[in-house]
Amino acid sequence: MAGLATDRIGQNVIAYDEVVSTQPLAHEAAAKGAVEGTLVLAELQTGGKGRLGRPWHSPKGTGIWMSLIIRPAIPLPKTPQMTLLTAVAVAKTIREETGLPVKIKWPNDIFIGDKKVCGILTELNAESDRVNYLVIGIGLNANSVETDFPAELAQIATSLRIESGEPLKRVSFIQRLCRIFEEEYDHYLQAGFERVKQEWEDHSYTIGKWVTLQTISQQLEGRAVGLDEEGVLKVEDQAGQIHKVYSADVNYRAN
Ligand code: BTN
Repeated sequence: MAGLATDRIGQNVIAYDEVVSTQPLAHEAAAKGAVEGTLVLAELQTGGKGRLGRPWHSPKGTGIWMSLIIRPAIPLPKTPQMTLLTAVAVAKTIREETGLPVKIKWPNDIFIGDKKVCGILTELNAESDRVNYLVIGIGLNANSVETDFPAELAQIATSLRIESGEPLKRVSFIQRLCRIFEEEYDHYLQAGFERVKQEWEDHSYTIGKWVTLQTISQQLEGRAVGLDEEGVLKVEDQAGQIHKVYSADVNYRAN
């Protein structure tokens, strides 16, 4: 990408007009040895993938649909921190490019007000306890207008264009995102998770809210109080007991 101020992130770009999903294409490229920082981009995804097996609505030209390959030398249990880091990088980029007050909903949704503008899907390739690579899928509703969303999304999704009233320059956004991601990532690799944790908490939609969580094993209600040093969400129940939540669907309740 011309004019890109990074060493690795975004230096190799594989761009498509139409794909089913950029995720399997990024896995294929990574398995064939694509360098760290490779970006797979598409104008249109006909079968975009969201978390928990959900579809990701990815119409032509209105969004940023991209998958990033990284190869961090970190232990397997730390890989969820990469999702938190990505959410911080996207939130900072949106703030810098548009000035909009974005928030991160745990673990990896980017919200403006009470509507989702971006989702992140991290997929891992590992052997025993060694990370080969991660594919981080980022789906950002950039230039969609209200009528671009199907009825079931209209009340819960938004775009940067809808919120700011201005069209987003997607190339400039991707360049800034690459630069911010690389800066966060290099700092993380050298100094650890502390700064990401702090920035995630500073941008959080979730911290301080009453939440109902459905994990695989239990339903839990309480106040989200922060992340632990590994990036796991801490929820305090009404008895004052702290629970650590690794993965769950979160519902919010006014308090
Ligand atoms: C979610 O919030 O459920 C995650 C959505 C991730 C969507 C992106 S778009 C680019 C990449 N390709 C996909 O098929 N999914 C991710």
